[in-house]
Amino acid sequence: MTRIVIRNLGKSVEVSDFSETILKAVQEDGIDWMHACGGKGRCTTCKAVVLEGAENLAPPTAAEIRYRDRGLLKDGERLACQAVVLGSITVDVPEEGKLPHLTYLS
Ligand code: FES
Repeated sequence: MTRIVIRNLGKSVEVSDFSETILKAVQEDGIDWMHACGGKGRCTTCKAVVLEGAENLAPPTAAEIRYRDRGLLKDGERLACQAVVLGSITVDVPEEGKLPHLTYLS
């Protein structure tokens, strides 16, 4: 079973469609995730910090490479709206992506 574990939310979602991004998969499971540009790769508010399974994500998209080149996406960070899930991963929501109505673990 392929899962996205969101460690600091204490939640996980099952993934069965391997064309889905992290953002789409978590939203389909009813989990809110910041995405200011609507998932178009035009901001970095949907960042996910990949703790495990980075190799289980499709290669970075052009948008992610552009933000990485500008220093706005660090090693280990992916844009949830861009990163397609191919296998199990564990992520954290970074500090700047935390939503005020959700409770995050430390
Ligand atoms: S939601 Fe804007 S880049 Fe992902």
